[in-house]
Amino acid sequence: MDRANPGARLAQLAERLRGARRVSVLTGAGVSAASGVPTFRGAGGLWRSYRPEDLATPDAFARDPVLLWEWYGWRRETIAGCKPNAAHDVLARWSQRGDATTIVTQNVDDLHVKAGTAGLVRLHGSIWELSCAARCASGVAPWRDERVPMPRLPRCPHCAAPARPAVVWFGEALDDRDLRAALDATACDVFLTVGTSSVVYPAAGLVDQARRRGAFTAEINAEATPATTLVDLAVQGPAELVLPDVDRLL
Ligand SMILES: NC(=O)c1ccc[n+]([C@@H]2O[C@H](COP(=O)([O-])OP(=O)(O)OC[C@H]3O[C@@H](n4cnc5c(N)ncnc54)[C@H](O)[C@@H]3O)[C@@H](O)[C@H]2O)c1
Ligand SMILES: [Zn+2]
Repeated sequence: MDRANPGARLAQLAERLRGARRVSVLTGAGVSAASGVPTFRGAGGLWRSYRPEDLATPDAFARDPVLLWEWYGWRRETIAGCKPNAAHDVLARWSQRGDATTIVTQNVDDLHVKAGTAGLVRLHGSIWELSCAARCASGVAPWRDERVPMPRLPRCPHCAAPARPAVVWFGEALDDRDLRAALDATACDVFLTVGTSSVVYPAAGLVDQARRRGAFTAEINAEATPATTLVDLAVQGPAELVLPDVDRLL
């Protein structure tokens, strides 16, 4: 890898992508940063004085569901005004070329959906969907609710128990089908991880899994992460500039 010459690294990434039959891309909050969605780690991630790790948990919801809904209300309001950026657009175009490219995201903002991404795997759910906190029989499947602002405490339409955001909180298991789809995506020729701090598991383990299965691995991120020294090629820079640059070389 040529650390001194970013252009050479982009060219190498483009060459790998051109030669690949199957490409998988894992995205994180950094891909949506340029759209105005705050990341968890980095500037602007804090709400009042709470750390996201202390709020995005089943215990926090059980303790104070109204506080949790205030936080989600604030995040939903922010995200409602955000549009996909050039990074989402490039990935959406790649996904639309047959089923050769799979996009797996940890983002809950649905900006990949808005950009028209085909076959998207949403590992952590969607902030625009709700589920029944009591897991009643009729309320198990998440339902769409895009109201902004939200009532103080939205309820399950079936059993009237509090509703919760249909997102995966810290300490919760991922949906089986989504996890299987993400693991399937590690069987690829190029695995690219973009805009993720690579500290939230099991998503952070996917790039290593892909490498062990023989994929060429690459990272695009604004700063160094635990994945940077693991991958075959690391490009440091904003996803909304680097992805269009790579795309132009294809
Ligand atoms: N947009 C969203 O939906 C959103 C936002 C915040 C958190 N989350 C959730 O929080 C968890 C956080 O993990 P994560 O790794 O996705 O996010 P993270 O907040 O932990 O890390 C974001 C990473 O993106 C990098 N980054 C910032 N701006 C960038 C840019 N313009 N281009 C490229 N990289 C950039 C940062 O350096 C950082 O490494 C996930 O589980 C996710 O579900 C989602
Ligand atoms: Zn219910």
